[in-house]
Amino acid sequence: MQALILAGGEGTRLRPLTSTVPKPVVPLVDQPFIGYMLDWLRGHGIDDVIMSCGFLADGVRAVLGDGSGFSVRLRYVEEPRPLGTGGAVKFAESLLDERFFVLNGDVLTDIDLTAQLAEHERTGARATLALIAVEDPSAYGLVRRCDDGRVSEFLEKPGPDEVPDTSLINAGAYILERDVLTGLARAGSNISIERDVFPKLVGHGLYGHEANGYWLDIGTPSRYLQATYDILEGKVTTRVGERLNAAGMRVLPPGGVGGRIAAPALIADGCAVAANASVGGRVVLGRGVQIAGGATVADSVLLDGVKVGPRTHIRSAIIGANATIGARCTIDGHAVLGEGVCLGDDNVLTAGARIFPGVSLPDGAIRF
Ligand code: GDD
Ligand code: MG
Repeated sequence: MQALILAGGEGTRLRPLTSTVPKPVVPLVDQPFIGYMLDWLRGHGIDDVIMSCGFLADGVRAVLGDGSGFSVRLRYVEEPRPLGTGGAVKFAESLLDERFFVLNGDVLTDIDLTAQLAEHERTGARATLALIAVEDPSAYGLVRRCDDGRVSEFLEKPGPDEVPDTSLINAGAYILERDVLTGLARAGSNISIERDVFPKLVGHGLYGHEANGYWLDIGTPSRYLQATYDILEGKVTTRVGERLNAAGMRVLPPGGVGGRIAAPALIADGCAVAANASVGGRVVLGRGVQIAGGATVADSVLLDGVKVGPRTHIRSAIIGANATIGARCTIDGHAVLGEGVCLGDDNVLTAGARIFPGVSLPDGAIRF
C-alpha cells in the first residue's frame, strides 16, 4: 500500500525551530519527527511512501534518504512553489496508484489505518477521512457525518460565529481513489484539499471513519512540547516509549552523565551534567549537551550541542542546536531559542519568547 505525505508547508508556527530545519525532520525525542509517521505507516503495511516537499526539501532528503533506515521505500516530489494540499496531491499524480493514503506530515498519532482501510472497502467510498474527537475543533477541519458514515459537511477552520456542534475533526489521514484527482484543475494550480476538494465531494462518495487513539498536530511550540512529554510518558505508542520503559524511564548514555536525573528523561551520548545540576523529568538532551553547576532543566528539549551556564533555570522551553546560554538565566513559558543563539548572563525569557537562529544577546539584555 502506498502513502503520500504532505510535507511542503513552511511550518511558520514552529519558528524558529523550523527556520533552519524543515518541520518533517525537526528532531522529536530521539529521531526526526517523520520517523514516527514512517514507523506507524509500516506497522499498517504501508511501505511505499512519497514525500511531497517544497520548503527546505533538500534538508528532508539529506536526513531521510531513500527510506532504507526506516524500512520503507521513500520517493520525493518537489513542488516548484507551494501548490496547497490539493495541488500537491495532483502534482504527485503520476506516481500514485489506484488507491492510496494521503497524510498531513505534522501529526503524531497511532490511530488504526488498517481499520480505516477496511471501512473504506466496505462502504465503497471514493474518499475516507479519519476523524478524531477534540475538545476545541475550531482550529481544524470540522466534519459532520450521517449515521452510515457518509460526510454531510466539511468545514475548514470555522469562523467564530459558526458554532461547531460536533467535536469530530479531520485527522489529516485520508484514503483516496485515484479518480478523485480527475476532476481537479491541472497539475500546477494552487488547490486546498480541505477548502476546494472535500466540500465538493460531500454527497459524492466522501466518508468519515471515527478513529480512536492518540492524535496530536505538532505544529506549535506548545504542542511540540506536549508531543515530547507524551512520547516520554508512553501516552502514544512508539519505539522510543518501548526503550524508555525497558530502561526504567531513564535512557542514559553508557557511563552516565553526572548530576541528578529525574525520570522520564532521554539523554543522548556525549552529554555532561555537573554534579550539583538537576535534569528532568520530561527532558530530552541531544548529543553533547553540557549543563553547568547549580543549573536546573525540566519539561524541556535541548537539542544537540547546547551549553547551559551555572545556576540557569530552564523549564517548558525548546533550545535549538548549539545554542549557548550564560549564567543565572531563566527560560520558561514555552520559549523557543533558535539554532546557535548565544544568550549572555542574567537574561529572563518567558511567555512565548522566540529568539531567531544565530542571534546574540548580551548580559542582562532581556527581562521578557
Ligand atoms: N506539499 C505541500 N504543499 N504540502 C503542504 C502545503 C503545500 O502547499 N501546504 C501545507 N502542506 C502540508 C503541511 O506541511 C502539513 O504537513 C499539512 O500539509 C497540513 O498543513 P498545515 O498547515 O499543518 O494545516 P493545519 O494543521 O492548519 O490544518 C490541516 O490539518 C488539520 C489536522 O492537523 C487541515 O487538514 C485540517 O483540516 C486538519 O484538521
Ligand atoms: Mg498542521
